[in-house]
Amino acid sequence: MDENQYSRLLAAKQTNDPKFIDLALSNPTQAGFSYPIEEIRRALSEVHPYRPDPQGCLDAREEIARYYRRHGRAISPEQILLTSCTSEAYSLLIKILCDAEDEVLAPVPSYPLFSILLEAEGVAGVPYALARTAAGWNWDETNAEEQRTDRTCALIAVSPNNPTGTTLDDSQLRQALGWCARHSLPMILDEVFLDYPGESTAGNPLAAAEEQGALLFALGGLSKCAGLPQLKLSWVAVGGPEPLRQEAMHRLAFLSDAYLTVGTPVQHAMSELFRIGQGIQAQIKNRIGENEHILREWEGRHPSCGIFPRPGGWYAVCRLPADVDDETFVYRLLDEQSVAVHPGYFYDIEDMNVIVLSLICEKEKFAEGLRRIAMLIPAP
Ligand SMILES: Cc1ncc(COP(=O)(O)O)c(C=O)c1O
Repeated sequence: MDENQYSRLLAAKQTNDPKFIDLALSNPTQAGFSYPIEEIRRALSEVHPYRPDPQGCLDAREEIARYYRRHGRAISPEQILLTSCTSEAYSLLIKILCDAEDEVLAPVPSYPLFSILLEAEGVAGVPYALARTAAGWNWDETNAEEQRTDRTCALIAVSPNNPTGTTLDDSQLRQALGWCARHSLPMILDEVFLDYPGESTAGNPLAAAEEQGALLFALGGLSKCAGLPQLKLSWVAVGGPEPLRQEAMHRLAFLSDAYLTVGTPVQHAMSELFRIGQGIQAQIKNRIGENEHILREWEGRHPSCGIFPRPGGWYAVCRLPADVDDETFVYRLLDEQSVAVHPGYFYDIEDMNVIVLSLICEKEKFAEGLRRIAMLIPAP
């Protein structure tokens, strides 16, 4: 498919077609959740004075440390640095960890942003495959080992992964961080979907990093955990042996001091935003549960399609019948049925035909979208 042709069609459907349904939706503010706008406004009222701290204000970091404690993880505010978004966290980390032309191992399948961020920093993204089983995609150190070279300077892991949901439990974290420690590689662990477990439970990477002696950068943010992407606040939590951790934080804070991107009001609102975010998060979890139920019923009526188990996250991976090409299917679905979904190849799933559905869409739209998808599935 010609990417531009698809983008043009998508833009036309979004603006002109009242029947258009976006089943690739990842923006929670457009998914019909109820937001307490006045409370958010009141929380953001502290606009003066400006007292910049390169790691972010202490109150905000204390709130994030409490958030981790609610996840059963001990961390000090000294180990946390605020950024305006996760992408910014990646770019700071690449700057402190890599030299030009170094390589960073990034999982496949996964979110297609890494290669752009890495290239923008003059660093090569080298894919390592998650191992596929009938039940989904798992961490497998032999695949990372195969791709490691003398130029490898970090490993990215995403847990829960987008879109496969792959979630690293304690034992996998120990293995992966042990592997990193043996090769003196830091791990960048993207946990933006940490609050949305499915069939798996995430382990404690801070404890595993300390135990294994690996440097760890765990990434999180309000965009997913509180459903508030518009407030632009994310963070890096640094774990591992203290000397490594302190040196890394020193370098991160030095760089961050040159930008100071995070606004004052959002930092001072963190305690309130975590409280408000719990209500939004509960709505998102509820929606995911309802849509997953609708999807399982649909799968029962369309056995030529298979839904992979969801270890965590916001997305469902749906296998198409073997003779249906995902690229052609996605174009036809948009053109003939006005439904947008992501094809598997968007996430580098090349060895089979899948589509990725967002489980945060409004329930009625989700059910209607599935009904229209079924119209294009050939009868078995
Ligand atoms: C795995 C992953 N990391 C990071 C992001 C971006 O998060 P943020 O909006 O907090 O920068 C996304 C967005 O969907 C994502 O899927």
